[in-house]
Amino acid sequence: MSAATEIVRLTVNGDRQEVGVPTHFTLLETLRYALGLTGSKQGCDKGDCGACTVILDGEPTLSCITPVWEAEGRTVTTVEGLASREAPHPLQDAFDLNGAAQCGFCTPGILCSAAALLERTGDPTREQIKEALAGNLCRCTGYTKIYDAVEAAAAAMQNGASVGGASG
Ligand code: FES
Ligand code: FES
Repeated sequence: MSAATEIVRLTVNGDRQEVGVPTHFTLLETLRYALGLTGSKQGCDKGDCGACTVILDGEPTLSCITPVWEAEGRTVTTVEGLASREAPHPLQDAFDLNGAAQCGFCTPGILCSAAALLERTGDPTREQIKEALAGNLCRCTGYTKIYDAVEAAAAAMQNGASVGGASG
């Protein structure tokens, strides 16, 4: 017997989407397996690691524990939507310049948490940056370069660096 499905309407990275998915799907499963947006990672799949973090109506959100119906009618930005084809997000430049990029599992979620912070707070303190990234776990970094990069991105944005993606 096939699983029950539902139609969900949401805006993802600036595009309105209407997608049929099994009713038990999470937002992460919908992004990855129905929409082909695999930048958001399925790490622990139980709300512990932050690899699946997306921005839902401006708030960093663990998409692996968010039922897709909760995103109905709402706006989602994934790591794919942070930058345009023409220009990277200032965070991506800053991660590059500061040697802050980690692996492909943790970095997308870190970028989304940091981008959501910079949307809320243009000039965050180091404590605010630490708090914003507290749910993004990586055992392979001391986080210092990541915090430095977020500060550098904030400074660049204050100086006029533009956000080219769907979240800006
Ligand atoms: S995959 Fe969502 S918190 Fe780990
Ligand atoms: S989990 Fe990505 S580098 Fe540590």
